Amino acid sequence: MGCALIVLAAGQGSRMNSDLPKVLHPLASAPLLVHALRSGASLDPERTVVVTGHGAEAVEAAVADYDDTITCVRQTEQLGTAHAVAQAKGALAGVIGDAVVLYGDTPFIRPETLEAMQAARAGGADLVVLGFEAAVPGRYGRLVTEGDRLVKIVEAKDATPAELALTLCNSGVVMAAAPLLFDLIAGVGNANAAGEYYLTDIAGLANARGLTARVVRCDEAETLGINTRAELAAAEAAFQARARAEALETGVTLTDPASTYFAYDTVIGRDAVIGPQVFFGPDVTIESGATIRGFCHLEGCHVARGAVVGPFARLRPGAELAEDAHVGNFCEIKNATLGEGAKVNHLSYIGDASVGARTNIGAGTITCNYDGVFKHRTEIGEGAFIGSDTMLVAPVRIGDRAMTGSGSVITQDVPDGALALGRARQDTKPGFAIRLMDKLRAAKARATKD
Ligand code: UD1
Ligand code: MG
Repeated sequence: MGCALIVLAAGQGSRMNSDLPKVLHPLASAPLLVHALRSGASLDPERTVVVTGHGAEAVEAAVADYDDTITCVRQTEQLGTAHAVAQAKGALAGVIGDAVVLYGDTPFIRPETLEAMQAARAGGADLVVLGFEAAVPGRYGRLVTEGDRLVKIVEAKDATPAELALTLCNSGVVMAAAPLLFDLIAGVGNANAAGEYYLTDIAGLANARGLTARVVRCDEAETLGINTRAELAAAEAAFQARARAEALETGVTLTDPASTYFAYDTVIGRDAVIGPQVFFGPDVTIESGATIRGFCHLEGCHVARGAVVGPFARLRPGAELAEDAHVGNFCEIKNATLGEGAKVNHLSYIGDASVGARTNIGAGTITCNYDGVFKHRTEIGEGAFIGSDTMLVAPVRIGDRAMTGSGSVITQDVPDGALALGRARQDTKPGFAIRLMDKLRAAKARATKD
């Protein structure tokens, strides 16, 4: 039976002190909300609903960008977490499987934890709540248990001193059959310290009906929610620490792990070597045995086995390096494929282009891809030789084994095997330099005498 995912993302996040809705702040190059959606996606939900409110339009656009099959529902007034979940009821009409509630600002819930909650459901619990032992319980809701039963959840604001002393806290993640969840929520009121409809009240309501509620526990680090920029920075640091450890564990050499930055989806093969100060943006795959030297910035690219990138290179979205391709210092590659063994080693911009196998691009080459309105493609064949400082004015095609002379401005296609020179012919005047300098020095001497 398929399950449904409900992600709460209507809150303002006022403590971020930001114009950007909290759940859109990036962590490891993806909005916080995307992390929550990816956690939930591990359950393979048949339907996913995101509850939006503050900054709804921007949040909905980000959701559509991530997966346009996800439904967004608006909570126009933030009356509490139970009220937020209730907004998803219509969108989940007819779902009889489980519903799982996640928070959009809680990025680290692991698939294994959600599986453990599913196992507890399969073991007979009607309602499963994810709890954790809090180092500092503070404002978290407290889980009141008897044996392995969850009796109720008490919000800190409403707790007695004895309840406040409890350290087992509510993460906010709950799981129950969708019809039961909405049924329990219908019984939630707002007569509490905050005047809010608390989702947490459903634990007590379930017990009152003689249903079984249980707690599944996870590590506190997993339930980390982001409320401030400082917490966002701490979460980023925690993410990076884990990503670095994982990369090392799986056989990637990181020369200076502390200065290597990963995105949420970076894939790096075994025996790849990553130098210091390398930043991976989203959607990067580095195959086994590739080398990324220091000070590179990569996003949206694929680097095949044996390829060498950097130092000081930038690979932008759509950069595709085949085996043994080389991209050297101060080169930028965007939306371009480099064939096997192709080399772009110095000070070049290759954009909207294809470069054939074994082609050598000389220093300072630029694909002039943009005319101010449109982008145009440059196609370079195999085994070609592009002279240093060639301007390839796209759209243009350079054939297999063709050459361009250094300093050429190439505006027309160059056939296979041809040499194209697009530069002024050199004019050498013997003795002219000395005569010119003598003349200038004499003029200077006269000027200073006057
Ligand atoms: C909630 C829990 C608390 C738990 C804590 C864990 C309740 C009543 N309390 O408290 O037991 O320990 O999370 O972090 O559930 N949201 C909406 N609409 C609303 C209210 C909230 O979408 O009307 C969203 C927020 O954007 C946020 C999440 O729900 O993503 C949690 O809301 P928040 O106000 O942070 O709840 P807490 O007071 O932290
Ligand atoms: Mg909170």
